[in-house]
Amino acid sequence: MRIKILTLFPEMFMPVLGRSITGRAIERGILAIEPIDIRAYTKNKHNRCDDYPYGGGAGMVMTPQPVYDCFRAATKDFPARRILLSPRGKTLTQQRARELAQEENLIFLCGHYEGVDQRAVDEWIDEEISIGDYVLTGGELAAMVVIDCLSRHIPGVLGSGESAQEESFSDGLLEYPQYTRPALYEGRAVPEVLLSGHDANIRTWRRERSLDITRERRPELLEKAELTLEDRVYLGLEEPPPKRPRRRKKKAEAPGQDAQNLPESP
Ligand code: ADE
Repeated sequence: MRIKILTLFPEMFMPVLGRSITGRAIERGILAIEPIDIRAYTKNKHNRCDDYPYGGGAGMVMTPQPVYDCFRAATKDFPARRILLSPRGKTLTQQRARELAQEENLIFLCGHYEGVDQRAVDEWIDEEISIGDYVLTGGELAAMVVIDCLSRHIPGVLGSGESAQEESFSDGLLEYPQYTRPALYEGRAVPEVLLSGHDANIRTWRRERSLDITRERRPELLEKAELTLEDRVYLGLEEPPPKRPRRRKKKAEAPGQDAQNLPESP
């Protein structure tokens, strides 16, 4: 994927996106990031890219001319979805990040000051994205959040040990707690079941912790999550199905071969 970022602060991006998982994706050629300095396009004799708002009010507005000219140059031979980072946008979700990861090219416009002249937005922007209900000083950090988040869903970006599947939000729930060695640290032990090697019990334990954490911290997520019958029973949303009477096992034909005498699996 190729991403162009139109910004007044192009130097902000590579120290962040050039590292860790996104940095590795860039090195491997899976991802290309090109910050473009909007100021390089201004025709203002003082190099300004902002002006007072018509109608009055606090703050400054990004002028249309450098944004228009910067977009004209950036979109030449580069057909791309064009996104403005703005607190007025639709809030980023894991689902939207997954969809954006399918695009071949993207252009992000980072707003600054009190906003961007609406004519530039109407002319050039396909979609506005917010990263949450709070106001940043500019769109740069928001653009980095969106790029980091979507890049995890580009095939090949995550290594085999890193998964975009088993994580918070992948099925609408928050993730279960994780532990690594040592099994006992400063008096705190890793839950016994995780050391048991019993896959089914581990799966159940993790699912139940996911359900507990989601119910406690983000109960509204449970309404949209993909819940199984077991989940609903665990949460007390449904009665457990009546147990079918267990059929008595036939007597084992050869003595010593019944289930009770089988060796335990590790
Ligand atoms: N610019 C300022 N605040 C923002 C936010 N919450 N999301 C995206 N862009 C922004």
